[in-house]
Amino acid sequence: MEPERLPTGLFNAADYERLAPAHLPADRLAYIAGGGGWDTTVAANRAAFARWAVLPRLLRDVRGGHTRLRLAGQVLPHPFLLAPVAHQRLAHPDAEVATARAAEATGTCLVASTLSSQPLEAIAQAAGSGARWFQLYLQPERAHTRDLLARAEGAGFSAIVLTLDASIQLPSRSALAAGFVLPPECTAANLAGYPPSAPAPLRPDDSRIFQGAMRHAPTWDDLQWLLSATRLPVWAKGVLHPEDARQLQAAGAAGVIVSNHGGRSLDGAPASLSMLPAVRAAVGADFPVLLDGGIRSGQDAFKALALGADAVLIGRLQTYALAVAGALGVAHLLTLLQEELQACMAQAGCAALADITPDALVPCPDPL
Ligand code: FNR
Repeated sequence: MEPERLPTGLFNAADYERLAPAHLPADRLAYIAGGGGWDTTVAANRAAFARWAVLPRLLRDVRGGHTRLRLAGQVLPHPFLLAPVAHQRLAHPDAEVATARAAEATGTCLVASTLSSQPLEAIAQAAGSGARWFQLYLQPERAHTRDLLARAEGAGFSAIVLTLDASIQLPSRSALAAGFVLPPECTAANLAGYPPSAPAPLRPDDSRIFQGAMRHAPTWDDLQWLLSATRLPVWAKGVLHPEDARQLQAAGAAGVIVSNHGGRSLDGAPASLSMLPAVRAAVGADFPVLLDGGIRSGQDAFKALALGADAVLIGRLQTYALAVAGALGVAHLLTLLQEELQACMAQAGCAALADITPDALVPCPDPL
């Protein structure tokens, strides 16, 4: 691996988004940045953060403050996880291995995608002793899902993140307009050994959606099967409806991830941040709830924690940092995010994550 250098002009976490266009071909940038359809939900995710302002508090003693938390039995130095992002070779030749090295260097919990461009075993090795979870897409053949689970368990992944909101994804208008196609070097390395199952022949009056794309979409029965097929805790990702969250809790999920896939699934779905308070209310104070979608700064994370999240996941921003400066960029991004969160906590008079409560925010009449 080439030693990487940080370009000048990187002061805030969000600077990685600003610099990414200089480090990514336009079509790849459009694919990464874009959402489903018209990017309506991508925009909503960002706008939701601007509707809240953080209220400074004075004279509080925050010496000795920290951002540590205990999540799923592990102590983490900060509440930022690396979200599962497919095909990281699009952003950098070192791909997921670079991301994993950055995760280990910063003590960050990494969530590796089923659709990673490097095998999960190589990612695990690069993550060393660091916390790592495996994001699962249920495969059409249960034998293949079982094999993925066994490989993830064998490679030391300590939780499964079952993504539930991406059985069907409409093409991104922006990626289409930019002429994006997945380059041949970006294959789904984890699935290489699994022969594709033959698609069921469609009758002329069959729906391409219901009998096609949705034929293998997970159901509540599949969730029950998965819970019995692995000894690892299973998190559910892609939750927006409070009732789904409550049912997932009752079914035995370890926690829920409030997410709309970064706006890449149902275009027109609400911002994940907007649904967070209702999901938290539905599952109670003690059930683990994570959030992703639109996080671009430590202050965004503060707002998510104030509205009920225990921790947040970073999708696009990690990919931009990977494109800009490889492993070093991702590690630097995580350091910036942690510092931004610390600065926001200090100014809001919070010495620990537990001090970040809803009354730290005020609705913002003039969106920031
Ligand atoms: C994703 N996301 C995603 N999620 C998942 O569960 N499995 C996956 O393989 C992928 N792949 C993926 C690729 C790319 C290019 C992006 C941008 C996103 C969704 C991801 O985990 C997360 O939910 C969002 O990215 C969060 O929103 P932000 O942080 O990108 O705004």
